[in-house]
Amino acid sequence: MKILTVVGARPQFMKAAAVSNVIRQKHKEILVHTGQHYDGNMSKVFFDELKIPKPDYNLGVGSGNHGKQTGTMLIKLEEIYEKEKPDIVLVYGDTNSTLAGALCASKLLIPVAHVEAGLRSFNMTMPEEQNRILTDHISKYLFVPTTTAEKNLNNEGIKKGVYNVGDVMYDSVLRISKLAKENSKILEKFDLENNKYILTTIHRAENTNDPKRLKNIVEALNESGKRIMLPLHPRTHKYIEDYGLAFSDNIKIIEPVGPIDMIALEMHACKIVTDSGGVQKEAFFMHKPCITMRDETEWVETVENGWNIIVGTNKDKIIHGINNFNPTNKQEEIFGDGTAAEKILDILDC
Ligand code: UD1
Ligand code: UDP
Repeated sequence: MKILTVVGARPQFMKAAAVSNVIRQKHKEILVHTGQHYDGNMSKVFFDELKIPKPDYNLGVGSGNHGKQTGTMLIKLEEIYEKEKPDIVLVYGDTNSTLAGALCASKLLIPVAHVEAGLRSFNMTMPEEQNRILTDHISKYLFVPTTTAEKNLNNEGIKKGVYNVGDVMYDSVLRISKLAKENSKILEKFDLENNKYILTTIHRAENTNDPKRLKNIVEALNESGKRIMLPLHPRTHKYIEDYGLAFSDNIKIIEPVGPIDMIALEMHACKIVTDSGGVQKEAFFMHKPCITMRDETEWVETVENGWNIIVGTNKDKIIHGINNFNPTNKQEEIFGDGTAAEKILDILDC
């Protein structure tokens, strides 16, 4: 079978790291990188460190408004699908690369496999929510990571082709944690001590594109007075400058880090403060209290299990979470057993 996989942004590289090499044990995979993320520390470092196969095509689409970015991907993908004639197109998650990959396949009547299907924030103003709902409704195989995701699909009338395989991110994190323990020097590099700093990431459009929300976040982190490591997404970097905001000395701003150093930073942080989807889960995998600066989450189980609190961008709530959120609850097995990629392969094989 010929499987064409579309990736484009760093959370998709994390997922492909678990799946691509497993698929290739039995099938031919054509890997297409849309070029949505293109800086070395947003793209190449993931392929190098995680030994993801080199993309067969890089569309070089780059940044842009949603229509231009997604539309350019569609035009370029169509040519490749016509040439390669894949049996299945596989997409991950909820970015513009996901939607373009799925929509282009659907129009050409190529079956779509969606990994990380069924996630919902129930907030249609998020570009990710639009992308994932549209992708789910044109997919033939819907690989869901959790029972909540399965229920979400059932509620929308999608019952056929839904497989709860667990979370491929968990597969990846298990592997990368080992690499991080063996190879990462990030603690030494920044003179960090185990459990003595907070790790933060900020990149969600609803936070960066709203001056008031971003100002609240910056002020909360500043006023917390805690030592905070902040690998800054280029999107956020730009808006911080545009809005004339500034971080105080307790916050160490660094360039985005590679996946091995990122997992090392998570493993040794005392808490994680984030608006990322992937990082909320990684915090859970590592038993780190997670303070989520969003108004809702798709990963509701992490909240129900007591390891994640949703604080929005209210300054007092963020600071209160940083100072007081110290869960000790026993975790349930929510995200599978670390063999999601093998399960996906078995199902595609049938
Ligand atoms: C995208 C996804 C988001 C995901 C995130 C992961 C969509 C709509 N959004 O958001 O769901 O959580 O990736 O990180 O697909 N930039 C660079 N260099 C890069 C990439 C981006 O400088 O290599 C800057 C550019 O200024 C660009 C901005 O970041 O305009 C946003 O990039 P884009 O890919 O459009 O969205 P993300 O915020 O990364
Ligand atoms: N990540 C990374 N380096 C960083 C920030 C994030 O390797 O500096 C990884 C992180 O561990 C996670 C993935 O990138 O696996 C998530 O990406 P992001 O937060 O950008 O997107 P989201 O998950 O919110 O879609």
